[in-house]
Amino acid sequence: MDLKRKYKLILVAGARPNFMKIAPIIRALNAQVGPQITQIEHKLVHTGQHYDYEMSQAFFEDLEIPEPDYFLDAGSGSHAIQTAKIMTEFEKVCIGEKPDIVMVVGDVNSTLACSIVAKKLLLKVAHVEAGLRSFDLSMPEEINRMVTDAITDYFFVTEQNAVDNLKKEGKPENRIYFVGHVMIDNLLYQLKKLGTVDPAGFKNQSLKQELDQYVFLTLHRPSNVDNRETLAGIVSVLNEIAENIPIIFPVHPRTAKMLKRYDCSLSDKIYQLPPLGFQESLYFWKNARLVMTDSGGLQEETTAIGVPCLTLRKNTERPVTCEIGTNLLVGNDPRNIMNGFDEVMTKEWKKGEVPPKWDGKAAERVVEILGSVFSQG
Ligand code: UD1
Repeated sequence: MDLKRKYKLILVAGARPNFMKIAPIIRALNAQVGPQITQIEHKLVHTGQHYDYEMSQAFFEDLEIPEPDYFLDAGSGSHAIQTAKIMTEFEKVCIGEKPDIVMVVGDVNSTLACSIVAKKLLLKVAHVEAGLRSFDLSMPEEINRMVTDAITDYFFVTEQNAVDNLKKEGKPENRIYFVGHVMIDNLLYQLKKLGTVDPAGFKNQSLKQELDQYVFLTLHRPSNVDNRETLAGIVSVLNEIAENIPIIFPVHPRTAKMLKRYDCSLSDKIYQLPPLGFQESLYFWKNARLVMTDSGGLQEETTAIGVPCLTLRKNTERPVTCEIGTNLLVGNDPRNIMNGFDEVMTKEWKKGEVPPKWDGKAAERVVEILGSVFSQG
């Protein structure tokens, strides 16, 4: 084993759900102690897929992520345009940096684009959150997950179902590492920090003081917001729910655009907020009576700390949240959403268990495994 050699890793992030995952990995990389551990030097690349202050910089600040070494400024566009722009710019970075390995996280377009670039340059690819499958190819993320995993060398996995999926696909078992969930590392870290954060700095003071019981809502999936009829149906049931309990709703830019385009009006008991930073969002949802969401991450975060969650999707790539967690899929049919809501409000909700290895140590495991992979050559 070459103790003196430093290995170089490029870590990629591009969109909001990536930032929660890279923060603990960077902390674990920075905490490496030598010389008994193979040293891994890292460079951080931000593709710029998300770029608004609230969608990007606010998260870097809350999550204590250092300034990226490269910002690719990819911006929005069709899938092809966005993916191509990221690929073109990321190729230059890889050629200049000559890393030993490129690490991508999650399932966004940046994950797909950078793994393809790396693999075609014959670099090793590590995928954190590998193996998740919704088996729904109408979801762009499912395509991103499948293509990324098709060319991944090292699979870091969050739940047993993902291990099973990868095995079924014939991936080499000795490259599948069930490490737990780096996003939950971040959640546990931020929860501790939240105790010392002064909410006086939060944007929504009046809300904080007025609301006792509320629903916390996030909504941004194209399958829910891009179609007029679907969005109108969801809005109508949300307005009905808001008659019973107020709803706090930080509105994603995609959803804001669509609500305007389709002229959907929300009840004034639905408090529409701009996208929130991580801490402010956590502050609200951890005390919510119920979370309603179509996000991937929030399904898992609610399970990790036992908050009831209704997921407005007909499938999930994160089934452990339903099997042993606090999550229930209700799809986007207004009646099913209402039934789910009634159930949470009137019956005792399942308490749920924390899935195996969601213990705040996943990123340490990732770095340790990388160290041993490098040291074996
Ligand atoms: C992307 C991810 C999705 C993830 C979501 C979290 C893909 C395919 N989708 O979806 O998996 O759950 O991020 O937010 O990678 N926009 C802004 N400001 C920004 C970013 C976007 O205004 O900083 C607007 C743009 O007008 C854009 C729209 O939001 O057209 C959608 O953004 P985009 O990154 O294409 O997809 P998301 O819906 O955010």
